[in-house]
Amino acid sequence: MKNTTQVGIIGAGPSGLLLSHLLHLQGIDSVILESRSRQYVEERVRAGVLEQGTVDLLCDSDLGDRLRREGLVHHGIELRFDGRGHRIALSDLTGGRAIWIYGQQEVVKDLINARLAADATIHFEVDEVKLSGIDSTRPVLEYRRDGRDHKLTCDFIAGCDGSHGVSRDSIPAGVLRTYHHVYPFGWLGILAAVAPSTEELIYASHDRGFALHSLRSPEISRLYIQVEPDEDINNWPDDRIWEELSIRMATDDGWTLQSGPVLEKGITPMRSFVVEPMQFGRLFLAGDAAHIVPATGAKGLNLAVHDVHKLAEAFSAWFRAGTNELLEQYSANCLGRVWRVQDFSSFMSLMLHRYSDDDGFRGRLQRAQLNYVCSSQAAARSLAENYVGLPHV
Ligand code: FAD
Ligand code: DHB
Repeated sequence: MKNTTQVGIIGAGPSGLLLSHLLHLQGIDSVILESRSRQYVEERVRAGVLEQGTVDLLCDSDLGDRLRREGLVHHGIELRFDGRGHRIALSDLTGGRAIWIYGQQEVVKDLINARLAADATIHFEVDEVKLSGIDSTRPVLEYRRDGRDHKLTCDFIAGCDGSHGVSRDSIPAGVLRTYHHVYPFGWLGILAAVAPSTEELIYASHDRGFALHSLRSPEISRLYIQVEPDEDINNWPDDRIWEELSIRMATDDGWTLQSGPVLEKGITPMRSFVVEPMQFGRLFLAGDAAHIVPATGAKGLNLAVHDVHKLAEAFSAWFRAGTNELLEQYSANCLGRVWRVQDFSSFMSLMLHRYSDDDGFRGRLQRAQLNYVCSSQAAARSLAENYVGLPHV
C-alpha cells in the first residue's frame, strides 16, 4: 500500500477524478480516497449539461471518445411561459459555441476507466479520513480501509470531497469567510425511460412553479419540477409528477409530454454557497467543497472542472518548474468565475421560479424579464454567453 504521494485527493467525484487525470498527464502522482463504492459514484444521477469549454478540456485530455459518440450537442434552449415557447439560439448568439448533454455519471465512468487503465490508486470505501499538518510542507491523510488504519504523506492535499466533506472543516476557524444563500424552493428530479418530448431543453415558468425538461439520450429523459425545499418525496407518486409537469409545460398549441417509467427520483434544495479563500497552507479546495450554485444555471459540474483545470496547472508549475505563483493565485483565479456563475445562476433562478409569498409584484418583474430576454438580442446574447460558458473569466 502506497504511503506517500505528491497530491493526496479526497473524493472521487468529477473534481477529484479529473484532477488526478490531469496531474497524471503532467507526470504528477496522486492517490484518491473516496468514502463510497465505485458502483455508487458511477450510478449517482446528477448533472447533465456540459459547457463548450468543459467538453474542449475533456476532449483535449483524451477523455472525449465516448463523449463525442454519445453526447448530444445542443445549439439552443427554450424558455416557455404564458403557453408559448421562445428559443434562445445559443450558438448563433455566441459565435458558434454550444452545450453538450452527457450525464455526469458518464463523465465519472470515463474518468474512472481512464485512471484505472493508467494504474492509478483510487481507494473506494475508505472511512474516517482525517487531515493533519496542512500548514506544514508534509501534510498527512489518515484513513481506515478494510478495518485497518493507514497514513498517506503528501506534498499537497486537494479537497474534492463535495459540500459535506471533511476537508473544508479542517481549515482552522477564522480563516475562511463563508457566503450562503438559501432559496425558498427545491427541485424534484426524475430520470425516466421515455423518449424526450423535445429536442432542446425547455425551462418553463408557470404560476404553479418552475419545470425543466432535459434529456440524456434518445430513450432517456431527465425532468425537474420546483417543489418546497423540505418537500417529502413520498408526496409525489409518479402519476402526480407527470401530471404536474404536463400542466406546467403546457402550450397553447397543444404540445404533449410523453410519460414513461420513472427510473430514479430525488429532491435537491437550491442554495448558493462560497468560501473564500479556496486554500489554506497546502490544502486546496475544488468543486462543491468550495462552492455550490443553484442548479438553474446548469453550472456546478462545469465550475468544478474549471477549478481543477486551474489547480492542475498550478501543481504542474510547482512540480515541473518549481514556481509557486499559480498556487498562490489559485483561489483568486477561481473566484472570479465562481461569482460570475453565482450571479448567472441566481439570475436564472429568480427569473424562473414561483415564490410562494409573492403578492404579484415579483411575478410581474419576472414576466418583464422573460419578455426582455426573448425579444432583445442583447439580453438574449447575455443569457446565451453565460449559459454556454464565458471563455474569459
Ligand atoms: P461531488 O460530485 O459531490 O464529489 C465529491 C466526492 O467526495 C463524492 O464522491 C463523495 O462521496 C466524496 N466524499 C465526501 N466526503 C468524503 C470523505 N469524508 N472522505 C472521502 N470521500 C468523501 N452541475 C452542472 O454543471 N450542470 C447540471 O446540469 C447540474 N445539475 C445538477 C442536478 C442535481 C440534481 C444536482 C444534485 C447537482 C447538479 N449539478 C449540476 C451540480 C454537480 O452535480 C456538482 O457540482 C458536481 O457533482 C461537483 O463535483 P465534485 O466532484 O466537486 O463533488
Ligand atoms: C440539467 C440540470 C440542470 O440543473 C439544468 O439547469 C439543466 C439540465 C440536467 O440534469 O440535464
